[in-house]
Amino acid sequence: MSHEPLPTDQPAVVTCGLPYANGDLHVGHLRTYVVGDAYSRALRRLGQQTAFVCGSDMHGTPVAVNAAEQGVAPEEFALEYHETYEETFPEFNVEFDNYGHTHDETNTETTREFVRSWVDNDHVFEKEIQVAWDAEEDQPLPDRYVEGTCPYCGEKARGDECDEGCQRHLEPGEIVDPVSTLTGNPAEYREREHKFLRLSDFQEYLQGFLDRLEGTDNARNQPREWVDGELQDLCITRDMDWGIDYPGEGEEDLVLYVWVDAPIEYVSSTKQYTERVGAEEYDWRDVWTVGGEQRHGTGWEAGWTDEGGEIIHVIGRDIIQHHTVFWPSMLRGAGYNEPRAVLATGFVGIDGKALSTSRNRAVWADEYLETSFHPDLFRYYIVTGAGLETDVDFSWDRFAERVNGELVGNLGNFCYRALLFAHRNYDGTPDAEPGPEVRERVEDAVAAFEDAVADYDIRAVGEAAVELADFGNEYIQRNEPWNLVDDEPDRAAQVIRDCVQLAKACAVLMQPVMPETAERLWTQLGETGTVADAALEDALAAPPAEFGEPEELFTQVEDERVAGLNETLRERVAAASDGDAGADGDGDDGEPEAGDAADAGDLEPLADGRVSFEAFQELDMRVGEITVAEPIEDSDDLMRLEVDIGVETRQVVAGIKGLHDAADLPGTRCVLLANMERAELFGYESNGMVLAAGEEADLLTTHADAPVGTRVR
Ligand code: 2FM
Ligand code: ZN
Repeated sequence: MSHEPLPTDQPAVVTCGLPYANGDLHVGHLRTYVVGDAYSRALRRLGQQTAFVCGSDMHGTPVAVNAAEQGVAPEEFALEYHETYEETFPEFNVEFDNYGHTHDETNTETTREFVRSWVDNDHVFEKEIQVAWDAEEDQPLPDRYVEGTCPYCGEKARGDECDEGCQRHLEPGEIVDPVSTLTGNPAEYREREHKFLRLSDFQEYLQGFLDRLEGTDNARNQPREWVDGELQDLCITRDMDWGIDYPGEGEEDLVLYVWVDAPIEYVSSTKQYTERVGAEEYDWRDVWTVGGEQRHGTGWEAGWTDEGGEIIHVIGRDIIQHHTVFWPSMLRGAGYNEPRAVLATGFVGIDGKALSTSRNRAVWADEYLETSFHPDLFRYYIVTGAGLETDVDFSWDRFAERVNGELVGNLGNFCYRALLFAHRNYDGTPDAEPGPEVRERVEDAVAAFEDAVADYDIRAVGEAAVELADFGNEYIQRNEPWNLVDDEPDRAAQVIRDCVQLAKACAVLMQPVMPETAERLWTQLGETGTVADAALEDALAAPPAEFGEPEELFTQVEDERVAGLNETLRERVAAASDGDAGADGDGDDGEPEAGDAADAGDLEPLADGRVSFEAFQELDMRVGEITVAEPIEDSDDLMRLEVDIGVETRQVVAGIKGLHDAADLPGTRCVLLANMERAELFGYESNGMVLAAGEEADLLTTHADAPVGTRVR
């Protein structure tokens, strides 16, 4: 990567975490893909040559287990979901330049080449390890075939991931008290020989890599403690039939671990894109290799180079370790370029609880499409509702409120009234130059958009057009052109000229997040070609002199629709809460149920005295987001936190060490008492207090979209 600010002269690739081809897509999955799509469009808007690629993750136990439950062969099962995803993404205007899958020939071959490179470069070794075994079925229990307890945080864990606790990757044999998911029997351990990628070869490199890595704070900070501590080697083989065979003579009984061939699909999918468009247009080697070739040799393991393209990964926050520790090592070990940025999105929940495929606690992609709400509405809602790292709740009420307020009432309203006035009075754009106030406002909006893209702030990218329209509404209201047309025609023409320019700028700026709506506005402005090809500077280029009568860009979401959708969701969530917990291929089950209550006899009695409302109002409590969490070394129970409360970031010392894993906390929403008196603990100033409940320090948070910094009343 170049380390130049974006856009650079090198080509970029934006990838999204591959969805396991094992179940229906829901709004939680869609968040990552919409963000990836919007970000790649925004990069192009800046003039950065960009490919946007992804594919289905076909292998591993997440697919094998679900296929077996359906009584279908894994390949057939996974291919069916792959085809469904291929059709579903474009319906949300998520337009990959290439969407492949991990079982195709390109990926099989590329994966084997990677492994051969690691072997040739002496990064692979063999070791006898204890693998979980089901004695009754007489078969090994890789990954999701075994459940137990996470050795790091003590939460319930599934095979290779602590999906309900600290989100760490677990190596074979690490899970405590393993139980077979096939029979429910306690698993035995048997000795087997497996292949390992020696991650310690890359420790020094990874430390430097994390210093260089761009993207969201959670992706940059969370891996620190892993790469600064002892790096565990990665077992890259499994005792399974379903997967890519390990490329070695006499090793036919081993397949590669799914997390080997899955990220390699990023490379394979880019190769397929090159094959389609031709290397003159986009050459995958310019992105993934260094100076057009794989690099090996002395010093390469630790050093870096500024050759190669800009690799940007958009993922869910549960797979940060895979993308910031394993994947850069895999790339390095095979002599490839390194990622420039990792953007890790927060989870989507409902009523503060994780989505769950198996319990049907979700809003499904198909279900959204059946509502006939435009996909751009969902895109806007999910991209701009909260910062990228923040966990959010999906709410139809909030969806309707934001669509009706920000899109119908603000952006849509401004563009429609500006264009209608212009069409009726001037047949299009009045003959004038944009005035200085509007010119400056558009220039500022363009600059803010550029900064947001360079800072990976996709929320700000999405908000740019609405903010400009907000100004436009105020501008038109302030200047009242309808009162000027007769008496001051030149001034009226100037005001409307300005408004048409603002509408054009809105089209250019909204395109990454609402591409189809931007296109409609572009056409209404009488522009030819597509807004996707417009450059950012076109926000200030003159609109066509003539255009027809405009149409409303957005439609109001009616209360009755929302009531119906709420009712369906309420019933579903209630049924899910009654239902059985279970592994679902999502990594999101087993949350404590709503309404779980402590025994009343164990609770503290209620306080006797009452406080006045005025006294309560003196407490300045704010919605915050933890950005940094570090255990304080000399203390048994204190952790140093940095909490973003919008206006500023506060350092707080909290008694939560041992109760929360520091790695989990960045990105977590909390409530902070901002006017708590300052204190000093273990040499650290504590400037505020994070609110928590009970012995386990259950952190208080909000459950909708109140922005960071909002006062709690
Ligand atoms: O966690 C998952 O859903 C995986 N299928 C993501 C793979 S991302 C990439 F690295 F392959
Ligand atoms: Zn854990």
